[in-house]
Amino acid sequence: MAKPCFPVSTISSFLCCLFVSSFFVNSLVSLPFPHPDQIEILLAFKNEFPILKCDIRKWSDSRQKTKSWTSKVNKSFDGVWFDSETGLVTELDLSGACLSGSLSANSSLFRLHHLRYLDLSYNYFDSFSFLPELAKLTNLEILDLSHMGLAGEIPSSVSSLNRLRDLDLSGNELIGSFSPLINLSRLSYLSLSNNHFSGNVPCSLLTIPSLSILYMSQNHLIGTLETMNCYSRSMLESLYLSNNRLSSGSLEPLSKFFYLKDLDLSFQNTTDPVNFVSLGFKSLESLDLSGNAISRLNIRSPNLKELALNECSINEFPTFIKNLPKLKTLRIANNSLKGEVPKWLWSMPSLIQLSLSHNSLDSFEGSPKVVLNSSLYWLDLSSNAFRGSLPIVSPTLNYMFASNNSFSGDIPLSLCNQNNKLVLDLSQNHFSGSIPGCLFTSLVYLNLRNNNLTGNLPNIFDKISYLITLDVSHNQITGKLPRSLTNCTNLEFVNVGSNRIADSFPFWLKDLPNLQVIVLQSNMFHGPIYSPQHPLSFPQLRIMDISGNKFTGSLPHDYFINWSKLLISIPQEKREYVGYDSIDKVPSTPEAQEPWPQKQEQVLNWKAAAMGYGPGVLFGLAIGQVFYSYKPVLFFKLFRL
Ligand SMILES: *[C@@H]1O[C@H](CO)[C@@H](O)[C@H](O)[C@H]1NC(C)=O
Ligand SMILES: *[C@@H]1O[C@H](CO)[C@@H](O)[C@H](O)[C@H]1NC(C)=O
Ligand SMILES: *[C@@H]1O[C@H](CO)[C@@H](O)[C@H](O)[C@H]1NC(C)=O
Ligand SMILES: *[C@@H]1O[C@H](CO)[C@@H](O)[C@H](O)[C@H]1NC(C)=O
Ligand SMILES: *[C@@H]1O[C@H](CO)[C@@H](O)[C@H](O)[C@H]1NC(C)=O
Ligand SMILES: *[C@@H]1O[C@H](CO)[C@@H](O)[C@H](O)[C@H]1NC(C)=O
Ligand SMILES: *[C@@H]1O[C@H](CO)[C@@H](O)[C@H](O)[C@H]1NC(C)=O
Ligand SMILES: *[C@@H]1O[C@H](CO)[C@@H](O)[C@H](O)[C@H]1NC(C)=O
Ligand SMILES: *[C@@H]1O[C@H](CO)[C@@H](O)[C@H](O)[C@H]1NC(C)=O
Ligand SMILES: *[C@@H]1O[C@H](CO)[C@@H](O)[C@H](O)[C@H]1NC(C)=O
Repeated sequence: MAKPCFPVSTISSFLCCLFVSSFFVNSLVSLPFPHPDQIEILLAFKNEFPILKCDIRKWSDSRQKTKSWTSKVNKSFDGVWFDSETGLVTELDLSGACLSGSLSANSSLFRLHHLRYLDLSYNYFDSFSFLPELAKLTNLEILDLSHMGLAGEIPSSVSSLNRLRDLDLSGNELIGSFSPLINLSRLSYLSLSNNHFSGNVPCSLLTIPSLSILYMSQNHLIGTLETMNCYSRSMLESLYLSNNRLSSGSLEPLSKFFYLKDLDLSFQNTTDPVNFVSLGFKSLESLDLSGNAISRLNIRSPNLKELALNECSINEFPTFIKNLPKLKTLRIANNSLKGEVPKWLWSMPSLIQLSLSHNSLDSFEGSPKVVLNSSLYWLDLSSNAFRGSLPIVSPTLNYMFASNNSFSGDIPLSLCNQNNKLVLDLSQNHFSGSIPGCLFTSLVYLNLRNNNLTGNLPNIFDKISYLITLDVSHNQITGKLPRSLTNCTNLEFVNVGSNRIADSFPFWLKDLPNLQVIVLQSNMFHGPIYSPQHPLSFPQLRIMDISGNKFTGSLPHDYFINWSKLLISIPQEKREYVGYDSIDKVPSTPEAQEPWPQKQEQVLNWKAAAMGYGPGVLFGLAIGQVFYSYKPVLFFKLFRL
């Protein structure tokens, strides 16, 4: 969206010149200033909402924006843009502004006739009697009414907003007809996702003359794609229809959508098996058919760059893929592929991202060097039945996921030659031998959990280490925790649990400012965990597990005094539990149930990592508030002190 105006806070210094400059208004370049009327309207609007209730469970970015709308003296109007020439309010972003109660039909908001942009998303009003008044805001070009609990039909007032370009009504409970939208001749972006719309997708909607992006995911749409065989030309470039109940034997009706580039038909909840056969589909660049039981598939779209076929019950490698010379991304996870990965896959000229996870593949056709031929930078082989040594990959690879297979032998030294920073997950395999030190020069993320690795952790971490996550738990690693880890100032997650490390308590870890999780559990650590010479502080720590070791000594009352900010902000009455033997169950939250790594794209996200440590395993002290998505919680486990 173009923002021709700018926030008033940047121009407040001009206000004092208002009266002076009005004398010279014809001779000077006009100076930006907020119009006094407009400030009055804004303050009146603010007073309509004396109570601001932020619900960060529903929307974590909630912020009491109108609170900053104070007197005329302080011109810091959060979320408001004034036109630089007229001083009129043209943009109002009240997304997640914690407005509650009712927005009434006589609200001052509807006196802001010059609004071109209005965002009321993520506010939860009691009543929607204001909807007809939207028709007064005839200058609106962008309107966001998403996630507001709107129920019933699409407000008919929208049909008067004939300058509308972008309209977002997603995340509501809307039903019924699309007719208020079909005369909006300038509409180019429309989101109706996550509502209760049912029935067919009518041609009148698909052929709105300027419509180029349409989101209709997560509704109850039914019917076949045949009903989308429209006479007039559609300008759609992106069509998102995932999570509905559409069915079809053919994508062909959609191939008349001459400009269509992105098509998402994933997860159509129909009982009929779906066969997708597509004929020439010249413009198509991205196609997602995941989650449909596909029995017959043939796609000939010469410009296709991304193809997702996850959970499609495919049991043979689809050979039509060979004929997609521009394909960059192929996702074919959670199917029933078995046997060898065909050799031709590695010679596909454009392929850079490949996911084959959750199949039953066990080997690679051709020589062990066959994978070297490809220029992949992202490869996911996890949860298959691969045996033998890891294939030799090309130096372009940045992301390698091979967990939960039966790979064996040494971790190949060839992985030390990667051109870029490396994310490597070889967990849950049968790798043996020691961890090659040269690996660490480029690693950002390393997971070697649950293998058969021996030897020491290399003590070679230098100051330019990029390492954020290190998990070598459940191996047979001996020796000490390498002191040079203090050089890895980016480290957030360290798990060396269930090995044979014999060392004293690593007081020196306190030098790692970003550390959030430390697991030393079930090793041969020994000695005191308190030392007056080594006061501990961990500004970001969430989890520490030192159980199952041979630590000795006692804990002073103020042991945690300098720890995590989170802990320090805990109310006094709860602090007394910390450091004693009382063991509570970690609260069970939806997030804590998720397996880890839940989404491979998110492996660098500490939350997934930290929570993954939890389910079923971690019983410790949970302190602080528990929120669904952001959890200021600290777990500390110190059994058998
Ligand atoms: C002006 O508003 C801003 C934002 O709410 C606030 O930080 C600042 O302290 C206020 N200044 C005065 C003088 O009220
Ligand atoms: C707006 O209407 C409500 C009733 O719907 C009324 O209580 C309120 O006083 C009215 N406010 C103004 C400013 O007219
Ligand atoms: C759309 O425009 C046509 C012709 O201009 C008119 O007949 C029809 O009533 C309009 N529909 C809506 C829903 O406004
Ligand atoms: C699929 O449809 C059935 C009813 O036909 C419904 O009970 C079920 O919740 C739907 N599943 C999803 C994932 O939407
Ligand atoms: C594959 O299935 C697993 C287990 O059901 C699930 O956790 C994962 O998200 C799925 N992945 C994809 C890409 O569908
Ligand atoms: C690499 O690909 C070329 C064709 O692109 C093929 O001739 C060659 O045999 C391949 N090399 C390996 C090791 O498979
Ligand atoms: C490991 O792979 C097996 C077989 O492919 C699969 O059933 C299982 O869910 C996978 N485990 C995890 C944690 O992904
Ligand atoms: C680990 O290696 C030992 C021999 O070094 C072998 O006996 C054992 O079976 C291996 N375990 C696994 C899980 O591969
Ligand atoms: C940290 O790295 C530097 C080189 O960058 C090295 O000289 C130093 O010994 C390392 N620190 C530790 C504690 O090993
Ligand atoms: C807390 O920090 C202060 C200042 O660094 C230090 O003097 C004190 O010993 C620390 N307390 C504990 C229990 O580590």
